[in-house]
Amino acid sequence: MKGIILAGGNGTRLYPVTRVINKQLLPVYDKPMIYYPLSILMLAGIREILVISSEKFLPCYEELFGDGSNLGLEISYAIQKEPNGLAESFIIGRNFVGSDNVALILGDNIFFGQGLSGQLQNSSKNHQGGKIFAYWVSDPRPYGVITLNDAQEIVNIEEKPENPESNWVVTGLYFYDNRVLEVANDLEKSARGELEITDVNKFYLSQGQLDVKLLGRGYTWLDTGTHESLLEASQFVQTIESRQGFKVACLEEVALRMNYISLEHFSKISEQMRESSYKNYLKSIVSNID
Ligand code: TTP
Repeated sequence: MKGIILAGGNGTRLYPVTRVINKQLLPVYDKPMIYYPLSILMLAGIREILVISSEKFLPCYEELFGDGSNLGLEISYAIQKEPNGLAESFIIGRNFVGSDNVALILGDNIFFGQGLSGQLQNSSKNHQGGKIFAYWVSDPRPYGVITLNDAQEIVNIEEKPENPESNWVVTGLYFYDNRVLEVANDLEKSARGELEITDVNKFYLSQGQLDVKLLGRGYTWLDTGTHESLLEASQFVQTIESRQGFKVACLEEVALRMNYISLEHFSKISEQMRESSYKNYLKSIVSNID
């Protein structure tokens, strides 16, 4: 399975912070925002990854991750000229995806919770149809809202409804089989001028092939599109990290624990890191690894 991180957008709600910098390069506590969604794809077992961003900021991501080999990954890059919608990922990424299945994650989404890696790995294996992850939020109106039947199956999705049918909303992580390339290709722009991921999901729903995993109260899902949510995300990560002593979304650590890189390589990149608390953390892993 291939993975795409969509890290473009205008970040309008974060103005003026995002006037000269792309949202996904902003810090969420102690690391760039894009580390969090990248760690999720890595935990899902996905190693071939396409980062999509605007022409202006794509070079920043290339500088940040290079070809991905330091993390045992193959990372490639593609431009989204304008924020034409999430589903454009599959048009831009068509050659990259080839004949594989694909996961898409939004660059400003943070997932955390015990058992998440297992869930992700199940979703990326033998996948047929579409799979989305839903989360219960107190105010569902800004999101895609799903309706479930008594068997907890999804029966409807409504984009940004005024009167939501439920509090379950679609998060920014999606798994699809290869048909998604054709589905995206056939989409028409919505009234707001975007190629909507909700329309992709509605296609799979109409085929009876949209599976939803409800992420219950033990999980955390945050998006970081507003000043408040960005600050909350930083505070959340700081709280977990200072209490547990483990970092959230430390990419080098994930690569080591997933066996994408050897301990020897991990030690080398730890040594090369500039003096920082992040470096100290990496070095502590080398001394404590079981
Ligand atoms: P949004 O939060 O919907 O858009 P945005 O990031 O531009 O912010 P704002 O609404 O404040 O202007 O996007 C969600 C994520 O998807 C975010 O990580 C940016 C990314 N995105 C793209 O890369 N391209 C797109 O065409 C769209 C719509 C979003």
